Formats: sequence, structure tokens, C-alpha cells
Amino acid sequence: MTNEKHRVFVTRRLPQVILDRLGAHFEVDLWDSDLPPSADNLREHAPNADGMFCLLTDRIDATLLDMAPSLRVISNMAVGTDNIDLAAATVRGIPVGNTPGVLTETTADFAFALLMASARRIVDGDKFVRAGHWKTWGPNVLLGRDLFGATLGIVGFGAIGQALARRAQGFSMRVLYTRRSAVPPPSGVDATAVSLDDLLQESDFVSLHVPLTDETRHMIGSREIALMKETAILVNTARGGVIEQGTLVAALRQGRPAMAALDVTSVEPIDSQDELLALPNVIITPHIASASVATRLRMANMAIDNLLAGLSGALLPNCANLEVYQEKK
Ligand code: DGY
Repeated sequence: MTNEKHRVFVTRRLPQVILDRLGAHFEVDLWDSDLPPSADNLREHAPNADGMFCLLTDRIDATLLDMAPSLRVISNMAVGTDNIDLAAATVRGIPVGNTPGVLTETTADFAFALLMASARRIVDGDKFVRAGHWKTWGPNVLLGRDLFGATLGIVGFGAIGQALARRAQGFSMRVLYTRRSAVPPPSGVDATAVSLDDLLQESDFVSLHVPLTDETRHMIGSREIALMKETAILVNTARGGVIEQGTLVAALRQGRPAMAALDVTSVEPIDSQDELLALPNVIITPHIASASVATRLRMANMAIDNLLAGLSGALLPNCANLEVYQEKK
């Protein structure tokens, strides 16, 4: 029986319940660590794998795929697949699975939490108290900005962008959005489609929700930042590469935009000496927007479902390179 199981390389230590499910179906080659395998480690393990359960920290490129002749499915435990060369997987006939949908609400919660934390200076407040500066209630102490009545600009109006819009409506915000295809907002979401330039000029808060692609890389650069209001707050829970980070650092140093709240950075993890960390008007969290217990379990189970389908020759329930099935015909 064991000999019949497909060999799956799992690139990170996972919750036991997930490892148990993987073990019930596959012969698991586990990278048993809380840190990712290096490129060399990936190359050592890939040659024996029929399937790969990987994370957004693992770079899966053409060179690696050439070293994995028996690989039949790649299952990324993430909705984003910018860590994988999809075109290279497609030409080799390898479907790539991802995990859309299950992290939508959790990620939108977190984007909204960053919005509130930055607007109402929650992190500043915590530091202030711990540093012993809380001497009295003061009319000028740690004044923040109101969300209600403010304009929120959502860049990228897919599922997560729309979920953020619904939250913003509950706070009586005016919502603008921009997206690639000109589709109206879904019913129940009161939001106005505008151009990116108009959105940047009119918004008090700008939140990014686009995938990282060749088209979106550095889409927020010096021109776009200059369009933003001086008082604007920029929130990013998408991918660090969407922003020209060096340009943002320089702009934040000038106080324009006023603040940034970033769950993602151009290099992850950010270097502890990175100049971004020296700025007082930035909140940075370690790419945790989808990090709730329930959501991470749902993502892992979806990744297993994709593996099971891929290794039995079935269509992946969630496939990021559907064109692979055309190529296979
Ligand atoms: C994803 O799934 O792409 C998210 O970035 C994980 O938090």
C-alpha cells in the first residue's frame, strides 16, 4: 500500500492535523522546520516528488521544475502564486493549485484593522503607555483621524477588495475603487469606480488589493505617491512588490503620504536595519493578514484537496493556470 502512495514534498512544518491528513494519502517528505528550505534544499528534494505542497516563500522556477521530472502537481498554500513561474509549470503540463476564497474575509478584517490602527494611532498609543508617557488625559494627546465620512480608495476590487468595501460601508465611509475590468460593484456594495489617478487624488485612505504581476509590479511609484493627499494613509496587504518601496520611504520621510500600514514588504522578511523600520509613521506586520487559526487550516486543507485531485489526474478544484488543461489536450 505504502509503495502505491504518491510522494509529496511538503516545504514546511504544518499543524499535526494537516500532517496527519497528508500522511493518510501520501508518502510525505517533510521539510520539518518553521523556516523555509533554501533554493538548494528545494533542488535536493524536488527530483523525488510527484507532488509539491509549497508556500509563498518558496520560489518555484523553471530550473527547479527541470529537476523534478515526476512532478504532476504543485499546490501553493496561498491565493497568490507570484512565487511560482506559472508559464514554466504550464508548458511542462503541471497544474498549480491555490487557495482563493477562504482567506477573503480574514484578510479584509486585517486590512481594516490596519486602517483603524493607523488612523487612530493604536500602535503609537501602546508604545506611549509602555514608555511611561501617560501622565494625564490630554486634549492634544495622540490625535488621530476619523474613518467615518472619510474616503477609502480600494485598488483592486476582487473578492478581498469588495469585502473591505463592505466593512467600510459599516463605518459610513465613501468608497472608491479601481480595477482592471470595468465591472459594476456587486449588489449591496455602494462603491464608485474611478481611474487610479482620481482614486489617489481623492482618497483619505488607499488600500491595495491587486495580485503581484508584471503589470502591477511597482504600480505605486513616485508619480502615484505624488498624486496622493498629503494626509493620506496607505495600506498594503497585497504584495510588497506592488509599491516602489524606496520611493515610499523617501515620501514618508517628507510626511507625504502621512502614514503607511504594511503587512507586506518588497523583501520578506524585512531586514532589521531597513530604513522603513526607522520611520515613526509606519506600521509593519509580518505578512499575517490571513493568519487566523481557522483560515490557515482551511487554506491547508484546500491545498491538500488540490494535491489529491492533481495526483489522481482530476481537474484541481482551484487551479491558477487553467490553460494547462488546454495544453494537455
Ligand atoms: C496569500 O494567500 O497569497 C496571502 O498573501 C497569504 O497571507
